[in-house]
Amino acid sequence: MTQLQNPSPLAALDQANKSLASHPKGGISAPDQVTVTAVTHWTDKLFSFQTDRPPGFRFQSGEFAMIGLVDDEGKAVTRAYSIASPHWDDHLEFYSIIVPDGPLTSRLRHVQIGDKIILRPKTTGTLGLARLRDGQRLYLLATGTGFAPFAALIRDPEIYERFEQVILVHGCRTIAELGYSQKIVADSRAHPLIGEMVTRQLHYVPSVTRENFTQTGRITKLLADGKLASSLSLPPLDPAFDRIMICGSIGLNQDIAAQLLEKNFHEGNLSSPGDYVIERAFFGDGI
Ligand code: FAD
Ligand code: A2P
Repeated sequence: MTQLQNPSPLAALDQANKSLASHPKGGISAPDQVTVTAVTHWTDKLFSFQTDRPPGFRFQSGEFAMIGLVDDEGKAVTRAYSIASPHWDDHLEFYSIIVPDGPLTSRLRHVQIGDKIILRPKTTGTLGLARLRDGQRLYLLATGTGFAPFAALIRDPEIYERFEQVILVHGCRTIAELGYSQKIVADSRAHPLIGEMVTRQLHYVPSVTRENFTQTGRITKLLADGKLASSLSLPPLDPAFDRIMICGSIGLNQDIAAQLLEKNFHEGNLSSPGDYVIERAFFGDGI
C-alpha cells in the first residue's frame, strides 16, 4: 500500500491520486499490460493478486476493468474484474474466483510474480457514491467475490465523509472463504492514514451459511428478520436514512432488490441519485 507522509489523510490520498493521474494517458504500456507483483491463494477456489499501476490509469473506487491473458493462439481472453484496491493506491489489486475449465481463470489461477496480464484502460461500474443520495448509514452487501469492489470502497475516505456509519456484510459458504475480507478489514483498521476512520465508522459483519460461525445465515435472511440491524443496535432499514450497495450473484441481487422495493427504496443512477445501487459479481448462475 502507498506509504504517505502527509499528516492529513484526505490531502495525502488526494495528492497520491493526482500524481498517479498526472502522467500522460499514452504512458500505458502496449498492449495494456501490467506486471503481477504479489499473489495470495485463500482457498482452492479463491485468490488475490496485485499488479503495478500504469501511469495515467485512473478509476473511481468500486469500478471494474477488463483484465485477462493472451491464450495459446495469441488471442486476448478478457473478463470484467472489480478493482479491489482504492483509487489512491499505487498498485492495483484483484480478487478472483477459480472456475474449473473457465476460459480465463483456469489459467489466471497460475499467475506468479513477474507475469504480465492484460489490463484495459477503461473502467466503469454502478457502485459509485455519485449514484446515492446523502444519508446517515451506508450498507455494503456482498457475497463471494462480490466483496471485491467493497475492498476498494471501504478504503476510500470519501465514504466516511458522506456517511456516519458504514456496514459491510460479507456472506460466504465457509469461514475460509472470508479470509480475504477479514484481512482487508484488519489491515484497513491498522492503516496509518485511514485506520482511525475505519475503526470508528466501519462495522464488519461476516456471515457463513454452511458452517457454524459467530454469525450464520444468508444476507437476505439477516435483512428480512431485522437481525442484522438489531445485532448492531441500529434501527430497521429506512429509506430516509439508509443507503445500500449490493454486489453478488444474480439471485442475491434480485432477492435484496425485491426486499428493498417493498420498503420503498429507489434504485439510483447518475441523473437521479437514489437509495441503492446494484452490480453483478459475475454473469451466469454461479459455480
Ligand atoms: P466464465 O466463462 O467467465 O464463467 C463461467 C461461469 O462461472 C459463469 O457463467 C458463472 O456461472 C461462474 N462464475 C464466474 N465468475 C464467478 C464468480 N466471481 N463467482 C462465482 N461464480 C462465477 N470475478 C472475480 O473472480 N472477481 C471479480 O472481481 C469480478 N468482478 C466482476 C465484475 C463484473 C461487473 C462482472 C460482470 C463480472 C465479474 N467477475 C469477477 C466475473 C469474471 O468476469 C469472470 O466471469 C470470472 O473471472 C470467470 O472467468 P472464466 O473465463 O474463467 O469463466
Ligand atoms: P447458501 O450457502 O445458502 O447457498 P456462492 O458460493 O454459491 O456464490 O454463495 C455465496 C454465498 O451467497 C453463500 O453463503 C450462499 O448461501 C449465498 N447466497 C446464494 N444465493 C443467495 C441468494 N439468492 N440470497 C442470499 N444469499 C445467497
